[in-house]
Amino acid sequence: MKTIIEPFRIKAVEPIKFTTASEREHILADAGYNPFLIKAEDIIIDLLTDSGTSAMSAKQWAGIMDGDESYAGSRSFYRFEEMVKLITGMKYVIPTHQGRAAEKILFSIVGQEGKFIPNNTHFDTTRANIEFSGANAVDLLNEDGKRPEVIADFKGNMDVEKLREFIEATGVEHIPMVMITVTNNSGGGQPVSMQNVKDVRAVCDQYGLPLFIDACRFAENAYFIKKREQGYADRSILSICQEMFSYADGMTMSAKKDALVNIGGFLAMNNENLAMQCRNVLIVTEGFPTYGGLAGRDLEAIAQGLEEILDEDYLHYRIRSVEYLGDKLIEAGVPLMRPTGGHAIYLDAKTFCPHIPVEQYPGQSVAIALYQKGGVRACEIGSVMFGKYDENGQLVPAAMELVRLAIPRRVYTQSHIDYVAEVIIEVFQEREKLRGVKLTYEAPMLRHFTARFAFVE
Ligand code: F0G
Repeated sequence: MKTIIEPFRIKAVEPIKFTTASEREHILADAGYNPFLIKAEDIIIDLLTDSGTSAMSAKQWAGIMDGDESYAGSRSFYRFEEMVKLITGMKYVIPTHQGRAAEKILFSIVGQEGKFIPNNTHFDTTRANIEFSGANAVDLLNEDGKRPEVIADFKGNMDVEKLREFIEATGVEHIPMVMITVTNNSGGGQPVSMQNVKDVRAVCDQYGLPLFIDACRFAENAYFIKKREQGYADRSILSICQEMFSYADGMTMSAKKDALVNIGGFLAMNNENLAMQCRNVLIVTEGFPTYGGLAGRDLEAIAQGLEEILDEDYLHYRIRSVEYLGDKLIEAGVPLMRPTGGHAIYLDAKTFCPHIPVEQYPGQSVAIALYQKGGVRACEIGSVMFGKYDENGQLVPAAMELVRLAIPRRVYTQSHIDYVAEVIIEVFQEREKLRGVKLTYEAPMLRHFTARFAFVE
């Protein structure tokens, strides 16, 4: 059959409240034209993030009831630990309340002034945690990955030559570790090939550097490897994941993505001494090492989610449903990051509205219009999120101006996605009407969360 159906039935539902266009106009103004500041109940289709927004399975909910809430040595911890070890082979597994807590712990130990941490592209919280420690976050994405229109299999790959040059120029003593983010969220949810992980590993070996994987969407990445990389077509998702993690010394994870839970994360590694230091910070900031900022029930749900994410039927549906939305948009001429990635569609706002200069944040303008038109919440991933100011106060724009529509896992059906396509296409057809915006408030760090905007006159 050609139709790929959702590989689940729906057992519990949540109503969606509908709003009118004129209601949405007021809601937007009250929220300072920042979708992050809109109340969730005023959203029709919420594609702000795929993080913590998954629908849990009946077995995960059963695990919630069955979780062992013992302070120390909980049975749920051991189930969770066993599952993480099975998939990653890492020796030490440290639960945290979410991904950035794992980052905070890791970089408070390895990061400090004068240090540099390369990645294909650091996610914003990773960058923020590195910079907060005083260290520098460096992005070394391959050139194709920066061009939304280029169609290539592994646009998330790190530029291995640039990595080598960077290490030579910086001095290996200033680099505590190298990271790779799979899939590359900030660069379109594009996958990283196994070959690239191996090549980065080889460079790390040459210079004696540890390699850490930011593994939030590891299973989606493994599915792309299976489909696109030679030699992996007959391998199970589990064995692809195991191979990928075998090249790494450690990992950070937000379980809110590919562990299909609403909260949770972990840090895992092979170095005993580093693990001990991480656990010491964990005890101060998160909790005892067998729960680390989570309830036993959360650990149970993560363990179950990690089992479910390896299901190829699920991954097939997941990746195809993102591609389905992409195909509809491409057919209508809407410019987007191609090919479609694992968890989201990324509209290319620079091409979408070329009449809005980057200083007037075209991505924000598109995100505002999507809400105004159909109550769809999307997220700017461009110069609002990543823009910096130079010494003269001039905006140094981000590499790309994208608008992300992230698809929550197992939440929306095909008709929801059809509706989203309709909204985007209508906004695109009226794109000359879009106006640029200016910031009226911004916080010193991670400004996109709380910024407020007004339209440029
Ligand atoms: N790394 C990557 C690649 C991420 O995408 C995220 C979160 C994190 C780390 C941090 O994890 O949220 O559990 O603290 N990404 C979310 C998103 C927020 O919308 O893409 P967290």
